[in-house]
Amino acid sequence: MIDTFLIEVETTKQSRLETVDFNDLGFGRIFSDHMLVADYKDGQWVSCKIMPYGDLQMSPALAALHYGQSIFEGLKAQYTEDGDISIFRPWENHKRMVFSAERMCMPAIPEEIFIGGMKQLIELDKNWIPKQAGSSLYIRPFMFASEPFLGVRPSQEYKFIIFTGPVGNYYSEPVKLNIQTHYSRVAQGGIGCAKTAGNYAASLYPAVQGQKNGYHQQLWTNSETHEYIEEVGTMNIMIRMGNKIITPTLGDTILRGVTRDSVLTLAKEWGYDVEERKVKVAELVEGLRNNTVDEVFGLGTAAVVAHVKTIHHDDTEYQLPALEKREFANKVLDTLTKLKYGQIEDKYNWLMRI
Ligand code: COI
Repeated sequence: MIDTFLIEVETTKQSRLETVDFNDLGFGRIFSDHMLVADYKDGQWVSCKIMPYGDLQMSPALAALHYGQSIFEGLKAQYTEDGDISIFRPWENHKRMVFSAERMCMPAIPEEIFIGGMKQLIELDKNWIPKQAGSSLYIRPFMFASEPFLGVRPSQEYKFIIFTGPVGNYYSEPVKLNIQTHYSRVAQGGIGCAKTAGNYAASLYPAVQGQKNGYHQQLWTNSETHEYIEEVGTMNIMIRMGNKIITPTLGDTILRGVTRDSVLTLAKEWGYDVEERKVKVAELVEGLRNNTVDEVFGLGTAAVVAHVKTIHHDDTEYQLPALEKREFANKVLDTLTKLKYGQIEDKYNWLMRI
């Protein structure tokens, strides 16, 4: 990795750190002192600057606002026991952002800006990294079309930004899911595999309807037939039935989760039979009905490992086993937590230490 891309730095005159209650962080509403902003123009990345976090000035004709060319990533930083800062597999997020960019006709972001710039930004705002258990510094890199132009074609200008903020848990309790068999979030051949804003926009209406009925999230199914489960939108989904760890195969409609990939690696190491395949709604429901489903859990950067409490389908509410019986998801959570805090060996070289 090259760390030599020139990044200009302007530090804040007035830190806001003192105003933060680290015991009441929530998720996604507190932002650290600085952000990194890079601009793409005339076929190249022309500038990159770390500056005080603040509002952006933009044209009302900004292409992303009209036609949705906008992609993002999510990562977390925390302190290890020996005082380093660790970030979990940032190279995978960089690869995925390049993949999302290609799918959305946007330019690739160079590693020296994505990783090199992120390192510099985190070092500058290291006092914003929470020390409370379960908390971390959430890192949000994103890119959007910034050309003021209303013709429908890929923008010729882009902004890449990274900002960060201390966060607690995304879900404060085990989640209640509804299997969604009417609305769709993404479609075969579409952009579900890219981490792009529109996928989240498409999920909002059904999510809000579901929340009125007490469901935290929708478990999305394939848009053509609604026969197969796909993902939850904020996280990938995994099922344990006995010694089997089952998760839907990646394709056009499912995000390539970094946590998902890491957990499949751990499951294989621990001797589970890993099945990445199409998973029928009927198979899941049958397993819930006859108690052969031992665990269902979601995986993501923000959510980490989120136990599923209940699953609703066709007027029936299925209850999952008690949390203390979730041997796999509990072990995953424990292992990933210890790894990030540097308490166990990083045998797969997953951590970037600063
Ligand atoms: C993440 O896990 O970082 C995500 O991007 C999910 C987000 C939509 C909260």
